Amino acid sequence: MSEPVTKKYLETLLLYFEEEIMGEAYFYGLAAKFPEEHQRQKMVLLAKVERHAAEALKPLLKKHNLKARPDSQLHELGKMDIDKSFQMGWGGYVDYIVERFPKYIPEFHALEAMAPQEDLAKLKVLTDHEVAAIQFANLEQAGNPDSIQPLLAYLAGT
Ligand SMILES: [Fe+2]
Repeated sequence: MSEPVTKKYLETLLLYFEEEIMGEAYFYGLAAKFPEEHQRQKMVLLAKVERHAAEALKPLLKKHNLKARPDSQLHELGKMDIDKSFQMGWGGYVDYIVERFPKYIPEFHALEAMAPQEDLAKLKVLTDHEVAAIQFANLEQAGNPDSIQPLLAYLAGT
């Protein structure tokens, strides 16, 4: 028997799914802006990580009869923050990720705390995507040449 779910859980799940789709367009947009090949490659990987997290949530949306806005509409919203982020410059932007992204982790944990047991495995894929992005940014900030490793490992499901 399934546990009852709250409206707050369903609204948050849908919102976070939509934010990953927005994030996908945001990172692809940044990938198109940063001048160096490695920077573009890293932004593309972050876009793919966003997509991977969103895809993990799709079965939960279906299960709970949640309907997200179309990708095209979410992508337009996601593109709004590109210029502001790009203006930080590469180093400044990496610092921003290091500073900012850990703040999302408690929000994902809060979603897990609201979730029925059977949704937890998928939600962990969501939480883990943020962990991978933070690990990447920390390594990148430290000048580690293998900074993309956490992103690759996440995408490979390892
Ligand atoms: Fe994300």
